[in-house]
Amino acid sequence: MSVHGKSSFPRITLLLFGFLACFAASEAATKKYQFDIQVKNVSRLCHAKAIVTVNGMYPGPTVYVREGDRVLINVTNHAQYNMSIHWHGLKQYRNGWADGPAYITQCPIQTGNSYTYDFNVTGQRGTLWWHAHILWLRATVHGAIVVMPAQGTPFPFPQPYREQTIVLGEWWNADVEEIEKRGNQLGLPPNMSDAHTINGKPGPLFPCSEKHTFAMEVEPGKTYLLRIVNAALNDELFFAIAGHNMTVVEVDAVYTKPFATESILVAPGQTTNVLVQANRVPGRYFMAARPFIDAPVPVDNKTATAILQYIGIPNTVMPALAQLPAPNDTAFVLSYNQKLRSLNSPQFPANVPLNVDRNLFYTIGLGMNPCPTCVNGTRVLASLNNISFVMPQVGLLQAHYFGTKGVFTADFPDKPPTPFNYTGAPLTANLKTSQGTRVSKIAFNSTVELVLQDTNLLTVESHPFHLHGYNFFVVGTGVGNFHPAKDPANYNLVDPVERNTVGVPTGGWTAIRFRADNPGVWFMHCHLELHTGWGLKMAFVVEDGPGPDQTILPPPADLPPC
Ligand code: C2O
Repeated sequence: MSVHGKSSFPRITLLLFGFLACFAASEAATKKYQFDIQVKNVSRLCHAKAIVTVNGMYPGPTVYVREGDRVLINVTNHAQYNMSIHWHGLKQYRNGWADGPAYITQCPIQTGNSYTYDFNVTGQRGTLWWHAHILWLRATVHGAIVVMPAQGTPFPFPQPYREQTIVLGEWWNADVEEIEKRGNQLGLPPNMSDAHTINGKPGPLFPCSEKHTFAMEVEPGKTYLLRIVNAALNDELFFAIAGHNMTVVEVDAVYTKPFATESILVAPGQTTNVLVQANRVPGRYFMAARPFIDAPVPVDNKTATAILQYIGIPNTVMPALAQLPAPNDTAFVLSYNQKLRSLNSPQFPANVPLNVDRNLFYTIGLGMNPCPTCVNGTRVLASLNNISFVMPQVGLLQAHYFGTKGVFTADFPDKPPTPFNYTGAPLTANLKTSQGTRVSKIAFNSTVELVLQDTNLLTVESHPFHLHGYNFFVVGTGVGNFHPAKDPANYNLVDPVERNTVGVPTGGWTAIRFRADNPGVWFMHCHLELHTGWGLKMAFVVEDGPGPDQTILPPPADLPPC
């Protein structure tokens, strides 16, 4: 069970304990939460501002559930912004109504209104997270989801003594929505963040951070499970603990083959569970997070820190510094990703699709469209297969379910309009993208392979891609252009890592496979908020199957109207 060292919210942690204890004896249970969307004043880096929160908390409350539970989370919106919440990584079988992305599976919850997300947690266990899925509000509206294994099912690794959620985030001194709006007006990337945070706190390397430092107390000789979430908007992050190796045991709520490492890499959207042994000289050790960036784009490169503190060591002891890979250490990243393998045990098999019914090849590009009111007369955009996705005015899932015409077209192309040398010299001409609300229709239960290919339109860059409603297997990845005749021979079809968000390498490609057995409308997008906003997104419409339990469930009565 979760026990926090120096939690910032001890009272609420205690409440959760009581809550969990009530259900500990039963099998599948119903867990209920109330999320009040509230504006709250907080201060970091000597700057105070009003932020949007859940229940006044930053980061928001952790949702604790057990595999098999039904979960009811009533969200009441008291803020001035429209709101929707996504339960990132939960598969929501037949139940896109509870998935959360605004204008994809629901209309947003308007000020003064409520909506109850009602879903089952089936066939998944581990760490996931929830976040606002509208505008840039997830900067402060986010929190962890802990799915404990079903009663009587142990972890496939030694039971840790205690566990701790570590939520990595990004802080701006100014109002994030103002920054986003300004960027859109100018047609340029908005200001980057002023700090990264660990459990909402930047740590002692920043001014005014004495009380804004997260510390976790450990007992010598004990093993701890850290549940690490990257909730930052735009930065892939390295994370390390001074003097302590970590053993990776799970990513995106799927068990992995355990391996030891000095640092991990977590992209926005991803989660990583690691075991840490408190086996060093009792003292104080920095935990640190800093971006990975191997492309020529500006990034907030400051290091957030927290403290791993052995019990009884006074706060006056200087913590030991943590070693992180260099910000552009591509080699570390490639070798780290190589080590990520599905556990693939009899109990937790990797059911990789071996045959492919549908081959998709999507190019990722930046672009530039005319914008008379923007500073340069152009607006920076992003696209998949040269299409910048345009958000509809009503939810796509409703439009699909009720057969409403004119909301989207189901003609998203399976390949780019014209092949080119995707990763050659930077391409700076013909950067215009086409715009549309175009989706790709997928037959129920078909197996899909999608190759995501980065391009050098304007610049190469790495992109963490997230698919809603599914996990997928990362069967292959490489640098340069994907070769359909050559590269599939090197795929890992035995124990590829299974996850919901994968980094497409800078100037490279990644191939994923999944079985389309979850009917609905499922968003797929780059999880860098900057790029999502620029149109680096699309949706799959997975058709209903023939069976009575293979169709989209009817919409709930309280589904928000547009
Ligand atoms: Cu965590 Cu559509 O996102």
